[in-house]
Formats: sequence, structure tokens, C-alpha cells
Amino acid sequence: MATSREREASVVPLVNVDELEARARAVLGRTTYDYIAGGAEDEVTMRANREAFARHRFRYHTLTGVANPELGLELLGSRLRTPVQIAPTATQRLAHPDGELAVSRAAASAGALYCLSTLATTSLEDVAQASSGHRWFQLYLYRDRGLSGELVDRAIAAGYRAIVLTVDAPILGRRERDLRNGFTLHSDMSYANLRGTLAGTGSAVPGASGLERYFDSAMEDRLAYPDLEWLVARSSVPVVVKGLVRGDDARRCIDLGARGIIVSNHGGRQLDHAVASLDALPEVVAAVGDRVPVCLDGGVRRGTDVLKAIALGARAVFLGRPALFALAVGGEDGVRRLLKLLADEVATAMVLLGVCDLGQLTADLLDAASRSD
Ligand code: GLV
Repeated sequence: MATSREREASVVPLVNVDELEARARAVLGRTTYDYIAGGAEDEVTMRANREAFARHRFRYHTLTGVANPELGLELLGSRLRTPVQIAPTATQRLAHPDGELAVSRAAASAGALYCLSTLATTSLEDVAQASSGHRWFQLYLYRDRGLSGELVDRAIAAGYRAIVLTVDAPILGRRERDLRNGFTLHSDMSYANLRGTLAGTGSAVPGASGLERYFDSAMEDRLAYPDLEWLVARSSVPVVVKGLVRGDDARRCIDLGARGIIVSNHGGRQLDHAVASLDALPEVVAAVGDRVPVCLDGGVRRGTDVLKAIALGARAVFLGRPALFALAVGGEDGVRRLLKLLADEVATAMVLLGVCDLGQLTADLLDAASRSD
């Protein structure tokens, strides 16, 4: 049943992602909006992720006769209808009561991949039952390897097609908005994949982030290559490494068995002053070659951003915050409309660039001067 807010959202045209954020800000409480929208410390990297896209300019082709570009692609055995996938983000029920169920269903209907977070507010089994689309499971490694192994086994049993190990968060970055707001999970929600004390962040403490306390108490803070080897040995589905920005690190992960890489700085939420995702992408792509697919998240707000990332070697991109804003504003329908908006923007830009499929997007379509800014 759509709420009156969602009915209203469904008739207001969705023109772009920035407008969507403004609408989400108006409906979300301050603490939740800040948690979603914020980054680490001075938020330099969070802004840099977007600025990096803005620096590139297209050298487009004309007179190509392209009319209906093909947006589909293959990613680790999944045939996807769009280059825009849904990144793992924690606690989606903070944005809307339907949380992960709504986002995963919207992704399935768009032919996009949905990556579920370890810290989801809906269990991985319930998400699997509710949506028929392509799903990956994101893993935060707990110090308790038995628990981490159980999560991996459950995800594989429930049909998740890859395990995405997040490697940029052995401890949580200092998110000052969350410290100020005493961010914590709402009392009627839990980390539904976990049990007992690990299912919640405890009560709010002004001046402290519940999520930071959670990481300190439970996560593997010495995350290192042997942990990746352990996961590769444990998992019967491909392991994808998310959260690196260097070619040498990517190569080492692949040597140890990683089957995909997501170039990411966690949306600027971890190490502030980290290099922008898009700026890191070419080095990683060059180091990886065609051994495994390389994807990207961080700062994607436009169809043209998607195409710039693909031109620089990404197979696909992942959206984090925009999906949560769409969820907050319009529930499942909001996320569907977001994915349609981005697909429309991508298709329009492909026609104007003169490319008929994603494989034709190469760095040659970007202005060299803008690349070396
Ligand atoms: C959790 O993954 C977060 O970045 O808040």
C-alpha cells in the first residue's frame, strides 16, 4: 500500500538525482539524512568523487545513425539490462519501512544487480524470497570467522551469485555528522542477518556513533590478504573485492583468487583525502587488464557519469546514496523511477555520443586535456 507521500512522489516528475536528494532530505529525519548523505571528516573525498566526473568532457562522434543504443552487459555470468547496479548500503529500512525488499524488487524489475549489505535490516533469505533478480552479497568480515563463514554459506544457499568483500573498512571512518547526532539504529530495527548483541548498535550515545562502536566491537580490524584467501577457499561463488583504489592491490587480490574488483573509497565515508574513485579507475584497469571485470562506485549521479566510467574501463557502476534517496521519497516505485531515469540519461547520452553499445565506449571519447586536469 503506497503512503500519501509515495502517491505524491509518483506524480511529481523525477528530473534528476540532485532534486531527488533535496526531496529525500525534506522527508528523512536529520540523523538519518546525515548518516546517508555524509562522509568522513571534512568530506573532501566525498566531494572529489563527484568533481572527478565533472572534469571530463566528451569528444563525441556525429553522423553515426545510432538510434536505439543497447544498454545491456554481462557481469560474472549475469546478463544485466543496465550498466547501473545497486551498491550495498547498510540499514535500508532507515530510509523506508520496505527497505531492502523494495530496493531489491526495483532492481530486479530494471534488470539491475542488487548487492545486499551484511548490515541489512532485512535478512538475506527474506530478500532472496522477495525478489527474483540477480543478487550479490556484501561481506564485512567479523573477527568471529565461524560467523563470517555462516554468512557466506547462507548467502550461497539463498542464491546470491557472488560474495563482495569490503576491504576499506577494517575500522569505521570518522563521520562527524554521526558523532554529532549520536547515530544509531532505530530500536524497532535490527541487523537482520545477525543474532544477539550483533543484531543491533545499542542505544544512542550523544557524541558517539553506534555504528563506529559496532565496528570496534565486532569487525576484523586487522583485515589482510590471508582473510581474502580464506574467503576465496570458503566460497563456491566468485569473490569480488570492493574498496580498493590501486593497481598493485587489485593485481594481488586477483592473484589470490578474486574474480572481480569494485574501485571504491566507500563513497568518501572511510579515509578522507582518498583519491576519487574515477581518478583511481584507469590505474586499476591498466593493472588488471582483461583478467577480471572492474566496476566502480562513488559520485555517480548522471547517465553521463556512467558513460565516463565505462569509457575509462569500468564494466558497470554501482549507485549507493541515490538509491536510498529514491527509496525514502517513493519506496519501491521511487527506486524503479530512479533506475529508469538513469537508463534514459544513459541512452540519450549514447545517442548523442554516437555509440550503439557499451563496448564502443573507450577513453578516446574523452578529451585528453580534461583527463589530465
Ligand atoms: C556502512 O557500510 C556505512 O558506510 O555506513
